[in-house]
Order: sequence, then C-alpha cells, then structure tokens
Amino acid sequence: MSNTLVINADQGQVTIDRNIYGHFAEHLGHCIYGGIWVGEDSTIPNTRGIRNDVVQALREMKIPVLRWPGGCFADEYHWMDGIGPRAQRPTIVNTHWGMVTENNAFGTHEFMDLCGQLGCEPYICGNVGSGTVLEMQQWVEYLTFDGISPMADRRRANGRAEPWRVKYWGVGNENWGCGGNMRPEYYADVYRRFQTYVRHLSGNKVYKIACGANSRNYYWTEVLMREAARHMDGLSLHYYTRLGWKPDRGQATQFTEKEWFGILREGLAMDELVRKHATIMDAYDPEKRIGMMVDEWGTWYEVEPGTNPGFLYQQNALRDALVAGSTLNIFNNHADRVRMANIAQTVNVLQAVILTDGPKMLLTPTYHVFEMFKVHQDAKLLPVTLQSETYAYGEESIPALNASASRDAEGTLHLSLCNLDPHRPLEVDVTVHGLAATQVSGRILTDAEMAAHNTFDEPNRVRPARFDGATLRPGGMTVRLPAKSVVVLSAK
Ligand code: AHR
Repeated sequence: MSNTLVINADQGQVTIDRNIYGHFAEHLGHCIYGGIWVGEDSTIPNTRGIRNDVVQALREMKIPVLRWPGGCFADEYHWMDGIGPRAQRPTIVNTHWGMVTENNAFGTHEFMDLCGQLGCEPYICGNVGSGTVLEMQQWVEYLTFDGISPMADRRRANGRAEPWRVKYWGVGNENWGCGGNMRPEYYADVYRRFQTYVRHLSGNKVYKIACGANSRNYYWTEVLMREAARHMDGLSLHYYTRLGWKPDRGQATQFTEKEWFGILREGLAMDELVRKHATIMDAYDPEKRIGMMVDEWGTWYEVEPGTNPGFLYQQNALRDALVAGSTLNIFNNHADRVRMANIAQTVNVLQAVILTDGPKMLLTPTYHVFEMFKVHQDAKLLPVTLQSETYAYGEESIPALNASASRDAEGTLHLSLCNLDPHRPLEVDVTVHGLAATQVSGRILTDAEMAAHNTFDEPNRVRPARFDGATLRPGGMTVRLPAKSVVVLSAK
C-alpha cells in the first residue's frame, strides 16, 4: 500500500491557538527549584533568581503559556505563603511530592517575573481542594486589581505598583483525585461557587477553566457540561501516556520494541479521547465557545534509577519526541476545540523539554519537537486527508504516519510528519490543492537508535538536522521519511 496525503491549502478556517504549545511547571522535584529558580545569590547566571539559560531556551522554543503552581501541589498551596520578604515566608512541607521542605522562595511575584522574562501568558491554578473561596478571590484581587483595596495595597507594599494581567485561571486541579476526591456532581457545584469570585477586575478579562476529566472518564465531562457549562470558558483534560502503573511503567531509555510500540499506541489514544470528550462538549456547546484545555499530558515512566521516587525525574528519548510530534499533530487537527495544552512538565519532571544538573542544562528531543513545530502557532489549520501504511508489532498495528498542516500569515505552508515505524523508511505522495509551491525546505529529528537521547556528556546527540527528502512535483511533492523520524517542512 502507498501513503498518500492530500492538503487543502486554500481551506484554512480554524486558527491553531498558540497555547496548544503550552507548558506546565509545578513545585515538584527540581522543576521549579534548581530547574527554574536558583536564587539571586546563585553562581548559576540568573536574572532576579531565575536561570538565564532556561529562560533563553524556552523563549527560543516560543513558549506561549505556562501553568503553575500545580498539579496536585496547587490544591495544597496557600498563595499568601509565597509573597512578601523571602526571609519571612513560612517553610512548609510538600506533602504530595517527596515530603520535602518548601521555603516558598518562588511565589506569585517570582512566577509573574518568570512569565515576563519568557514573554508568555501566565496560567494560575487556584486551590479548591484545601483552600477557600476567599483565598482564591483575594489572589485574583492581589494580582489584577488597580484600585485601592486590601489586596491591591498589599501587592504595592510588596513592590509591585501596577496590577498584572492574568487571563487564565484554573479552578482546582484533578478534583476527582488529589484535589479533593470529589464526585462530578459535587465538584460542579463547588466550581460554580468558586468561579463566582474569580472576577474581571480593572479591565483584566479572566478565562475560567474548570477541572475536567481524567483520561476516559466521559461521565465527568457530561456532568460538568450539563451543570456548569455556562459558568466556564474552558474545561481541562488530563491524559498521561504510560504502559502501566508503578513499578511497571518501564524506563525512559531502556526499553524493547514492544515498549516502543506500546507507548506510541498509548500516545495515539489522545485522538480518541479528544474526539469523545469533544462530542460530549458539542452536545452542550455546539458553537464551540468552551475550549478543551489538555493542561497535563506527556509520557510517564519509572524515575531514573537512584533518584527520589517523589521527584518524577525521567530521561527523554527519541520515542518521546515521536509521542510529542504525534500528540501535537492531534491537537492541531482538533484546533476547533482544543485551545490549550500543557505538557508535563517544563524542566526535570516527566516529559520535560529541559533537564538540568547544577549549572548544566540540556535540551531533550521533546524540546526540539516543540521548537520545530512552533511554526504552527497561530497559523490556519489546513484540512488533511492521510492514508498511511500500518506499523505492526505482534498482533497489533497502528498507523505508521501522522501529520498536520497549517498556513501562516505570510502564506507559507507548514507540514509536520511523524514516521513511527522504527525500521522502515516510508515514502508519502503529497497532493497540495490551492498552492503551487516552488520551494520546499525542511528539518528532521531522528537517530539510528530508538532510545537515543541527550546526556550532559553528549547534549547534542539528538537535535534537528536539515532535511532534503522532499521533492516538489506539479501539484504537490514526494517526501521520503526515514524510519522513526519527525519532519517539519515549509513550502511556498
Ligand atoms: O504532573 C504530575 C502530577 O500528575 C500532577 O501534579 C497531577 O495533577 C497529575 O496527577
């Protein structure tokens, strides 16, 4: 069978929201502490305590939005612990992640400074599980109110005269689990109550995001849409790609082809999840006003041997790059409903785009996928029809190829392709309607080994290279994709 792809370059209607390329940073392991925050006195180059190398890398990747402070941590976080002079902030215990002490050095002002340095939107997740309505209401007031009020005055006393702009507010995290073990019926009412006090203040228009389902819990989506749709702007969804549960989640860089296949199969399940949750949302919101916010996703393996099990530190291999590329293709293709996604997590945790070791930093294969795919941000999604050979392992098979395409404001067409087959190069015949391209260029991420990854000794083993495997022909092009590769082409 041959592989064919038809792109309608003149039919772009839906914009791919840049926030689909978003990230998530929790007070967990060395994501914030060590990975982002080193403190002003550190010998690691920093700006007001925030690592310069990490900021520069994330800016180059064009990070659009950052979710914080959790995760499970968010529903135990009391934001007032993280404001005011650092020496006076209380030291608490991070009960969810390793029972380590947390001195609250990184709090609201530091997070807003980070977003400013990154040039990205902040997305703050409030505490519903163990917090109060008042706390949440005051946090919004502290950050965004311009006038005279106890919270705005407190912000000024802490050195920030102007209010910030914070559009995205999460009203709780995983309230079906670590955020309070609630039933959807109960959470829907709690959500309605809390969100009442997440107000538009001083011209800051808030976008309220309700806690959504875990994976295939369609009942949760049904109840939330039925009971609270008119009070929300977004509904989240969490889905992690894993092969099993502790201690059988497998390793990030030591795996068999069976595990390669299994992780990619589980990654592709995101398409089914988005479709099914979207079908329920469509029944209550046919205009698609409410965004699906996949605000936690990514691969989840056993931690690296010898590291704290509560820190969720894992390496990142070419296999993760293929999960990232395939997932981003899925989100692009559902951009009519998916308005934000946040890979977990930015630095040193789960499917991180950056790993650090003291002053050293490396970019993972997943980072390179985000950087290559950034051309899709805010471009018009182009409808594609793909016929793909399968990649079979044992009795099972999955489509070997996946793709998405967009056209940017300058008229350039961008096509991202993944070949999941670890053995076979594949040729794709691409027909392009509505654009007679005269030039094509591309970049590729691949390696001879399935488990290829970057280390502090060899940080550039997996990195993008120039791709010359696309040949224009009248009406389209032929693309020769090497085995286990991610390719992004630009044609005009
Ligand atoms: O990302 C790690 C954890 O996974 C988050 O804290 C939680 O929301 C999810 O279960």
